[in-house]
Amino acid sequence: MSVSLTPNFPATRLRRLRQAAWIRSLTAEHVLTPADLIWSMVVHDGDEARIPVDAMPGLERLNVKEASAAAVRAKDLGIPAIAIFPHINPAHKDEEGSESLNPDGLIPTVIKAMKDAAPEVGVICDVALDPFTSHGHDGLIDETGYVLNDETSAVLVEQALVQAEAGADVVAPSDMMDGRIGAIRTALEEAGHTNTLILSYAAKYASGFYGPYREAIGSATALIGDKKTYQQDPANSDEAMREVAMDIAEGADMVMVKPGLPYLDIVRRVSETFKVPTFAFQVSGEYAMIQAAAQNGWIDGERVMMETLLSFKRAGASGIITYFAETAAKKLN
Ligand code: PBG
Repeated sequence: MSVSLTPNFPATRLRRLRQAAWIRSLTAEHVLTPADLIWSMVVHDGDEARIPVDAMPGLERLNVKEASAAAVRAKDLGIPAIAIFPHINPAHKDEEGSESLNPDGLIPTVIKAMKDAAPEVGVICDVALDPFTSHGHDGLIDETGYVLNDETSAVLVEQALVQAEAGADVVAPSDMMDGRIGAIRTALEEAGHTNTLILSYAAKYASGFYGPYREAIGSATALIGDKKTYQQDPANSDEAMREVAMDIAEGADMVMVKPGLPYLDIVRRVSETFKVPTFAFQVSGEYAMIQAAAQNGWIDGERVMMETLLSFKRAGASGIITYFAETAAKKLN
């Protein structure tokens, strides 16, 4: 007996599978859980517990104490990891971003506080100089403003070591310098940090979607020019494959695609091609668009939040870095 592989009507009525919640849930191809989420969190070095970020409605910068309390909430909600991003006192910024190497700086302090409060929760640290430089670039610049590759990479190695030393579980270079993953991996091995994970922002695009983040970390007014000489051209897809291949070869344990929603095609290609844990970053501008439309009553914010998060799973992401992590996890629980 042969079965026709071509579905035809009325033998096949796809709506049968959609008729009620129980059958929809039984046949769902993808599922989102709190375990898929990495909580993107902005921390600051001031006294105030929480400072709202205008361009990101609902998001607040947290001081050290609030951040460690948030780590406990992450544990209780089943969120496996937190990615921390610093907003520092502008008085501590300079051309070289030297505050990034301060072992008693904001990030090392937050790492220790979080690991004390909730050791089960993974702490992920951005490796890049932009929160610390007076010019807002991710690296060291020459007299023309060009971001120097190898010189920057050498500083990033030091920054990653400071983070690992403070107890960071994952270092996540977001700078897009060539060769920095290999340099960081070698330095971590030599320093005995053989278990420190590297999550590489492997395919990171020069994107307008980072706008609100620059307000969040206070680099908006600082940034001179753009980041097109180091971040990827949104026109390119094959280039992302080369970036990811190099970072894996250099020692990245996991890779990231960023931004998220406008680059789902890249998430799909990367996860299918490399079969390594692949994360998508739902960045500040994506968050801001959803929140702004929701505040105006133009969309159902919660519904769109969940739909976008699920879309990353459908595209093949192992997980999602998102400012919605706490809200989404509460809803999922
Ligand atoms: C900096 C960095 C950026 C983000 C994470 N790390 C901004 C940039 O590259 O300009 C963006 C995060 C977001 O927009 O949510 N290296």
